[in-house]
Amino acid sequence: MKVHNIILAAGEGSRMLSEKAKSLQPIGGHSMLSRIYEVASKVAKTTTFVIGHDKSSLIDEFKTFKGNFNFSEQAKPLGTADAVKSSLSMIPEKATLLVLYGDVPLIRESTLKQLISNTEDSLAILTTVLDEPFGYGRVKKNVDGYAISIIEEKDASEDERKIKEIFTGILCCKKDLLVTAVNAVKNDNVANEYYLTDIVSIIAEKGYKIKTCIAPNDEVKGANTKEELLELENIYRSMKANELLNMGVTISDLSRIDIRGNVEVGKDCSIDVNVILDGEVKLGNNVSIGPNSIIKDTEIGDNSNIEAFSHIVSSKIGKDCSIGPYARLREGSIVEHNAKIGNFVETKKTKVGEKSKANHFAYLGDTEIGEDTNIGAGTITCNYDGKNKNKTKIGDNSFVGTNSSLVAPVTIGSNAYIAAGSVITKDVPDNALGVSRSKQENKENWSKKKS
Ligand code: UD1
Ligand code: CA
Repeated sequence: MKVHNIILAAGEGSRMLSEKAKSLQPIGGHSMLSRIYEVASKVAKTTTFVIGHDKSSLIDEFKTFKGNFNFSEQAKPLGTADAVKSSLSMIPEKATLLVLYGDVPLIRESTLKQLISNTEDSLAILTTVLDEPFGYGRVKKNVDGYAISIIEEKDASEDERKIKEIFTGILCCKKDLLVTAVNAVKNDNVANEYYLTDIVSIIAEKGYKIKTCIAPNDEVKGANTKEELLELENIYRSMKANELLNMGVTISDLSRIDIRGNVEVGKDCSIDVNVILDGEVKLGNNVSIGPNSIIKDTEIGDNSNIEAFSHIVSSKIGKDCSIGPYARLREGSIVEHNAKIGNFVETKKTKVGEKSKANHFAYLGDTEIGEDTNIGAGTITCNYDGKNKNKTKIGDNSFVGTNSSLVAPVTIGSNAYIAAGSVITKDVPDNALGVSRSKQENKENWSKKKS
């Protein structure tokens, strides 16, 4: 079965009170749209997005998406059926169409697969049962349990409003059937909109059996307002934290950890409060992450400790390392086994070799440091000359004294020493001491003469 996604994101989202397209509102630091696409692209190889309001921001967002997709424009937000209609020319022949709404972002792959497998040659809709169904379309069924219509909140009678099974906005339908039904939708309702939900009665009247798949509540709530967005954020946080817990991680507080990307973990890892893990994060065995740390797109080896308040992005940390507290590892930082990066040390595109240390206050940019080398407090690699970035190289077993400026491009050899307070502008060979500072002069009895 060839499945194709249609993701609706053209609405104005006026209830968000924002200029932005609603589906660009974030859940876990990434747009709802990117969350939906990530999951939907696992069940279908091709996708059409329907855009309209704030389309330039949506097109910018697409630049970050991978895979095979296109988009169509809905000229005016005349309703969800009109949105689907505007996408039909972009859709492959003989496909089964999976329709998703851009403001229902927490759906799981397994739920979508179940819906698709229940579609057969008809339409299947994803529903859920809510204690408080206010605002959602209510699903009406016949005695055999097949859906026969969906009534929107605005159009529902008092009795219909009591129905607790609601439409989630996600449905799956054979293309030809969807095309015929969407073209038959009228806008004779309270909102004067072309409701996609009307296709249920249209298709049921043709004699088709429409199955409903019931999804877990938390996966299918929609976000129309900032309040609902916050509710979804909390659900998402708890879903992701529980996933980690079930992978055997010790978590200090489930409500104070934010997993915004994909995390792989070994055994016996622990994560303290207020930690954010984003992008692709891989932790080895026995890794501990201290409170208030942010880690993005980073791999951390076995037995390494990240101390409190560390900020680590696009980096690779080896085994048995100690990072922080208050360390900042920027993109391209590679810290090899047994190395140590201490407080207020910033690194960028820098490799710190095995057993080397930069324990206090330093900036190491575009730098390669060998093994067992000590970088003193206050060391700065001066990598930028106003135009270009230049490299610093430091060999093995060397010692850079405190408060040294290493003006790149510059190379310091192995077993070399840099005297504290030096400004190093020339290479220092292996085994040498580089000193570059004015000599100290003591003026004897100077203070006595002064008085
Ligand atoms: C919709 C459903 C409702 C369901 C609920 C689930 C309809 C008529 N109603 O209501 O039955 O319970 O979702 O969350 O479909 N959009 C467009 N173009 C438009 C209008 C909307 O692309 O002209 C997009 C929006 O950007 C949004 C999605 O369609 O991503 C849903 O629209 P929204 O207005 O939020 O529908 P609801 O009122 O929540
Ligand atoms: Ca909605």
